[in-house]
Amino acid sequence: MKNIKAIIFDAYGTLFDVNSAAEKCKDKIGDKWEGFANYWRTTQLEYTWLRSLMKRHKDFWQVTEDSLDKSMKAYEIDSSLRNELLDLYKILSPFKEVPEVLKSLKKKDLKLAILSNGTPTLLNQLVKSNNLDNLFDDLFSIEEVGIYKPDSKVYDIPIKKYNIQKNEVAFLSANTWDVSGGGNYGYNSIWVNRNNNIFDKLDYSPKYQTKQLGELLDIL
Ligand code: LAC
Repeated sequence: MKNIKAIIFDAYGTLFDVNSAAEKCKDKIGDKWEGFANYWRTTQLEYTWLRSLMKRHKDFWQVTEDSLDKSMKAYEIDSSLRNELLDLYKILSPFKEVPEVLKSLKKKDLKLAILSNGTPTLLNQLVKSNNLDNLFDDLFSIEEVGIYKPDSKVYDIPIKKYNIQKNEVAFLSANTWDVSGGGNYGYNSIWVNRNNNIFDKLDYSPKYQTKQLGELLDIL
C-alpha cells in the first residue's frame, strides 16, 4: 500500500446502500422487503455476469429494470410499486460515514474516483442527489468498454486515464467478487465488510478488511 496515487471506489453496495430503495417502501412491502431487496440485487448482478458471458450487453439501468421485474414476480410485489422503486434506485442513500470520509480524503493529494457498472447518467444522478458531486475527480462507467465487472477491461479504465500502475491503486468494494476481480487484476483491493460476511475463494486475499470506510483514513 505504498505509493498509492488513486483511490477507486465501487459504487453500489460500497458507497450507496442498494437496499435503501426497498427499505423506503417497507411499509407497503411488509416484512419481506429485505429478502426481496437481496433477491433483486442478486438477480441484477447475475444478469450482468450472464450478459457479459453471452455477449449481449444491456446497460445497467435496463438490467436493473429486468431484474426488478423478475424479483417482483418472485416476491409477489404489487406492480403499482414498480415506478416508485425504480425512482428510488436512482437516488439511493449513501452509507452514513461516506460524505465525511470522502471530504477528508479530498484533502489528500490523491485521485478519487468511482468505477462502477452504473451508466454515466445513473452515477451522475447518484452523486448529485446526495451532494457528493464535487468530491470525485472522475465517475468511471463500464459503458466505456461495454462489458461488466469483473472483466479486466473495466479495471483498465482508471489505469489508462491516470497513466498509473495497477499497484498504485487502492480499490474499495463491499462486493467480495469485485474485491477479487480488482485484486486479481493487480489493484490493492480493500474489502469493506459491513455485514460480517465470508470472503470468496477466487485466488485473492484482500490487502485490508474494514467494517466501514472511515478505517481507510488509518490505513492510508
Ligand atoms: C458497481 C456494482 C458492482 O457499482 O456494485 O459496479
